[in-house]
Amino acid sequence: WVLTATAQTPTNIAVIKYWGKRDETLILPVNDSISVTLDPSHLCTTTTVAVSPTFQQDRMWLNGKEVSLSGVRYQNCLREIRGRAGDLEDKEKGIKIEKKDWEKLHVHVSSYNNFPTAAGLASSAAGFACLVFALAKLMNVKEDHSKLSAIARQGSGSACRSLFGGFVKWVMGKEEDGNDSLAVQLVDEKHWDDLVIIIAVVSSRQKETSSTTGMRESVETSLLLKHRAEEIVPKRILQMEEAIKNRDFASFAQLTCADSNQFHAVCLDTSPPIFYMNDTSHRIISCVEKWNRTEGSPQVAYTFDAGPNAVLIARDRKTATQLLQRLLFHFPPKPDTDLNSYVIGDKSI
Ligand code: DP6
Repeated sequence: WVLTATAQTPTNIAVIKYWGKRDETLILPVNDSISVTLDPSHLCTTTTVAVSPTFQQDRMWLNGKEVSLSGVRYQNCLREIRGRAGDLEDKEKGIKIEKKDWEKLHVHVSSYNNFPTAAGLASSAAGFACLVFALAKLMNVKEDHSKLSAIARQGSGSACRSLFGGFVKWVMGKEEDGNDSLAVQLVDEKHWDDLVIIIAVVSSRQKETSSTTGMRESVETSLLLKHRAEEIVPKRILQMEEAIKNRDFASFAQLTCADSNQFHAVCLDTSPPIFYMNDTSHRIISCVEKWNRTEGSPQVAYTFDAGPNAVLIARDRKTATQLLQRLLFHFPPKPDTDLNSYVIGDKSI
């Protein structure tokens, strides 16, 4: 017999960034972070997990290609889920699995991204969140989403925020074992559904410094990171929660842009400095800043992760259309140039 479970998890974009760990193995951050989860029909991962007594070892395929599950991050997630597995009975198939049996059973995992991995948008966040959620479903784990988020966190920090829709806070926690470092939903996806997110794919090249390596180097060398984590982010988190609660776009945009810029300033303050944004990223920032200034109040917020692609958040659909027109005018997409496509909802140009 074979039993399967499938899950679908969208990626999330941080508006107050996670950058820096206080514990590398458990993946515990130096500050709280806040993100918005994309609509599940857009950038997302779909994962099917299967279990059968005939499977000889744990195996995984990503977009149809076999990948190794031996890494510590995968192993930690598998161990945590197996440790919480419940009894399972499928009378139709005549299957009965007891808690203790899960330790001996192997799983096969098949995971697909609904966006080209080469687009530079591939994110470990959706991947690990989806893996943990699908495994929990298969193994009848009776934990709530926040508890599961603490497991996904051990796969990739940002993954813990993808277990919820809407706006999500990853609470850094204080405990040494990391049990209180988990995600909570601030508001669901209906709370602020005017917002439209456009991703300008500035470069599809693989980033030179991974987030994991980059943040390790920043923790070791940047004095600005320490100041940011201790003095800036705690206040910013409260202000951002307030802005989201009140759907106050002006404050939301100001905080989002300031936090992205500070995160990239920390990267520059790292030794040797890390450059994630390129000239096109900088030109997009100038274009948005200029537009927001001419309008007298913010229309669009920008945020950049560990790469040059711009995530642009428009206050409503009308603004998003205007934004796209401006982007197409100033940055016409041409194959093999620095700016080659835009992803808006389910449409790519
Ligand atoms: C810039 O979650 O990819 O996107 O925990 O080492 O896997 P690891 O790092 P990761 O870092 C994401 C960093 C970021 C900001 C964010 O998403 O908050």
